Amino acid sequence: MRHIKSYLARDHRDCDELLSAVEEAASTTCWTEAQSNANSLVSALSAHFAKEEQVLFPYFEGDDKTMAQVTAGLRAEHARMLSLARLLASATAWRDPRSVYDAAHSFYCVMVHHNENEERNLFTMSDELLGAQADRLIAQMEAVAGSVQGEQQ
Ligand SMILES: [Fe+2]
Ligand SMILES: [Fe+2]
Repeated sequence: MRHIKSYLARDHRDCDELLSAVEEAASTTCWTEAQSNANSLVSALSAHFAKEEQVLFPYFEGDDKTMAQVTAGLRAEHARMLSLARLLASATAWRDPRSVYDAAHSFYCVMVHHNENEERNLFTMSDELLGAQADRLIAQMEAVAGSVQGEQQ
């Protein structure tokens, strides 16, 4: 049986790697590569957030007010991260090193906190409470991510 935490944490690592690839390409003025990686980051984030917001979070929202507040906070951070990643993609299109640095730094600060929080709390809780349904939930998340990525092409 698969684990929700390792499945979703893998997406977090992939996004870390894409951000590093953007910064590395920008630092050597490989702007086409920087832009392509930034666009891939926006796409990967959109798919990952859809998995969480459409499949996982609803299991915790129900009647539990505290958990509903937790996921509302995470959803707000998703919106902030997506807008910073889009800003980063624009900065690579402008070929402006300062804007790339600023957007990458702001994005990184929000992402590190957000991902650590999810992995330590919500994902761990997900495997404890929903572990028996993990295979089905992961299949649903794959389907949601596929449709988001299909819309972006
Ligand atoms: Fe998240
Ligand atoms: Fe996440």
